[in-house]
Amino acid sequence: MIGVLASGEGSNLQALIDAGLPIAAVASNRGDAGALARAEAAWIPNRVFDVDGYSDRAARDRELADWLQLRGVDFVVLAGYMHLLTPAFLDRFRDRIVNVHPSLLPQFPGARAIADALAAGVDTTGVTVHYVDEGLDTGAVIRQEPVTVEPRATLVERIHAVEHRLLPEVVRELCAH
Ligand code: GRF
Repeated sequence: MIGVLASGEGSNLQALIDAGLPIAAVASNRGDAGALARAEAAWIPNRVFDVDGYSDRAARDRELADWLQLRGVDFVVLAGYMHLLTPAFLDRFRDRIVNVHPSLLPQFPGARAIADALAAGVDTTGVTVHYVDEGLDTGAVIRQEPVTVEPRATLVERIHAVEHRLLPEVVRELCAH
């Protein structure tokens, strides 16, 4: 069963839901994440794990991992989750956590990948699905797809469209193994 972590709007979560993947739980670090409403609408158990409620991030991550495992989660997808995970979480799902990122890693890691690609003046950026480790978007790449920067007025939209196709595809393949 899949657990999804999301901090934002949740359009990638929605793509996973729409693909019919077996999502057992959705968690967020933010109470205002649109992803929670999408989980609710799809009758998927969901919960906020706000770091302010814990002594530190490791304590929060332990409780988050407990909550997911109680719901049968054995594979975790980060779909716009904007916190780094601590070893307290990573050790529980070693090599079973993937992330979607809006650039061709190792180019433009971090939260501003699309803006950074534009500022750098590259012709092509893209989407990466990769395994998650302690670093910021540093885990092994699983799949990448290029996206041309021009026409830039639609760059964000085109990147998201690729994410919404690529992420469910890769997750389905990995879960089948
Ligand atoms: C996506 O672009 C993802 O690659 C990045 O954050 C964004 C999340 O969007 N890490 P959403 O919340 O899935 O709509």
